[in-house]
Amino acid sequence: MTNLLFVCTGNTCRSPMAEYLMRELCQKQGLQGISVLSAGTSAFSGDDISFYSREELRSRGIDASAHRSRCITQELLQQADYVITMTEAQKHFLQSYCQAEKLLSMRDILGEDIADPYGRDEESYARCAEQIEKGLKLFIEKYLQKEVKKMRIPIASDHAAFAAKAKVIEFLKAEGYEPVDMGCYSEESVHYPEYGAKVAEAVSSGECEKGILLCGTGIGMSLVANKFPGVRATLCHNAFTAQACREHNDSNVLVMGARVLTEEQILEITKIWLETEFAGGRHSERLAMISAIEEKFSKK
Ligand code: RB5
Repeated sequence: MTNLLFVCTGNTCRSPMAEYLMRELCQKQGLQGISVLSAGTSAFSGDDISFYSREELRSRGIDASAHRSRCITQELLQQADYVITMTEAQKHFLQSYCQAEKLLSMRDILGEDIADPYGRDEESYARCAEQIEKGLKLFIEKYLQKEVKKMRIPIASDHAAFAAKAKVIEFLKAEGYEPVDMGCYSEESVHYPEYGAKVAEAVSSGECEKGILLCGTGIGMSLVANKFPGVRATLCHNAFTAQACREHNDSNVLVMGARVLTEEQILEITKIWLETEFAGGRHSERLAMISAIEEKFSKK
């Protein structure tokens, strides 16, 4: 686990934006094993995130309403592998409390401080978020990518979806994932259960967190994958089903039909499915019911 701690002064504007934007970037880029927190050098504990920071994040589809400010502590500094301050002055302030090797400022990363938008207009917060996002992307490239694992995604298809699979693999690579092609390897007719089983097994065994399957309709692959314990394979037709199956069903295998969808639809569904988090809550209880059924009726 790599622990990141973003620091500003009050922990209500800049550092919470950095915290939530960073989580989103890790999710989008399939970076695993990163824990992100933020704190302020002179924060009051328990304040809400500032209105414009929250709205700026909301406009990017990120809900930061649960954020409560916290003041920096020795413990937080110790636990962090990287402490990233918004300004050079904040870095200097922390220098006597924190090992130099892990202390960085946005100026070190981006070449400029992130100025405090507090009390300014909406536009200033939007500019601040953009600047932070740029800094975070550079930080990932320069410091993080060497040490974190990209999410490995096993993917397979039969002959009917061979071309579509190639497009999804290309897309996954461009998005920073590490696709593992489990066949088939040409348009010559094959049996889909053989290939569906490879991906489903990788997910069922816990070797991989998520997998992707394609066949002509997506139906055969769904039937195969859902025979494996712990697999929740979901056949998706559009953006809505891609989002709902992650939020409600915690889908761990995405299935699509290459004879049903266009290439554009397939990539749109894949993107949404990868970037949507499970909502938990009442849905967890329902998933536990599915697991109980699986347990009860599986032949030992
Ligand atoms: C192959 O012709 C087709 O049956 C297969 O791709 C899939 O649609 C099965 O459900």
